[in-house]
Amino acid sequence: MIETCFINITKTPESRISELDYNNIEFGKIFADHMFMVDYVDGQWQTPEILPYGDLNLSPATSALHYGQAIFEGMKAYKNAEGEVLMFRPLDNARRLNLSAERMCMPTLPEEIFMQGLTELLKLDSEWVPPTKGCALYIRPFMFATDAFVGVRPSANYKFMIFCCPVGGYYANPLRVKIETEYTRSVEGGAGFAKAAGNYGASMLPSKLAQQQGYQQLIWTDGKEHKFLEESGTMNLMFVIDGKLITPALSTSILAGITRDSVMQLARDFGMTVEERRISADEIVAAHANGTLEEAFGCGTAAVIAPIITIGYEGKDYELPAVETRKFSNKVSVELDKIKTGEAADIHNWMAKI
Ligand code: COI
Repeated sequence: MIETCFINITKTPESRISELDYNNIEFGKIFADHMFMVDYVDGQWQTPEILPYGDLNLSPATSALHYGQAIFEGMKAYKNAEGEVLMFRPLDNARRLNLSAERMCMPTLPEEIFMQGLTELLKLDSEWVPPTKGCALYIRPFMFATDAFVGVRPSANYKFMIFCCPVGGYYANPLRVKIETEYTRSVEGGAGFAKAAGNYGASMLPSKLAQQQGYQQLIWTDGKEHKFLEESGTMNLMFVIDGKLITPALSTSILAGITRDSVMQLARDFGMTVEERRISADEIVAAHANGTLEEAFGCGTAAVIAPIITIGYEGKDYELPAVETRKFSNKVSVELDKIKTGEAADIHNWMAKI
């Protein structure tokens, strides 16, 4: 049951929507007119507000900047043929934000604040949801510690915000990825399952090194043996081997992706066998050698389905079947798109109209 919460709204005096070229949208560079903000002070969430998108005024001692109590979510909204705005599985993002908050010793946010803030924000900025095929409004909810204090302890004060940006595709081409056997993204017992800012910060050096070797992204392996595959870049990782959809099982080092869950659900709807389990690099090499490695892809909110064309492992590149020939990832990608834009029946109740 979602209770009502009061939001103070200050509208922008002048919209910047005319700056948006719907046919040429780069990922994450242009921001919608308004943002949602609510502060956590003295153990309580205060009155939320929506205000014109703009800079924040922060103390240099803001503890999130030093000790990383900072978490975020990524989600998307789409337009249907009638021009109505549909959010994809927003309550799942609200819930995952709270799992991340608990892990990072931050306060949880009542789901009704998340949902109402989001809904009111999108009502105000609905024009920013691109109607263009392959585009969406990317929504960035995030929370960070705001105490101006240099001692290391959980902050007493926090800010939760949401801003939005219209986006096109995340990756232009199929990915060449390298199985990383030196660095690790997270370990069992770490915070890899949380969408914590530090997980992304620590991934940048290994990703940059892989780029220097001609790969766009990494496949992360487990922190103990570097044998078992975990995620790819900022996405969950999936394979089709011998007609079965196989993905690493969730653990404390793997993010419970909402796209991951949706892809598995659709695979089951298509009648496919889905296996969530450990997958070793050696299993992938063996499947490649015996011709059963049919597809590999990353999945996440930003890229949705990102086909992997080459896997580099221990100095050797393994080429995968041409993307056009891939039955499952092409089918699931089209089906997800149709559900999100209201063209296909939403049998799992994933879409929430604003
Ligand atoms: C996602 O696709 O869900 C991501 O986390 C990517 C984002 C960091 C741009």
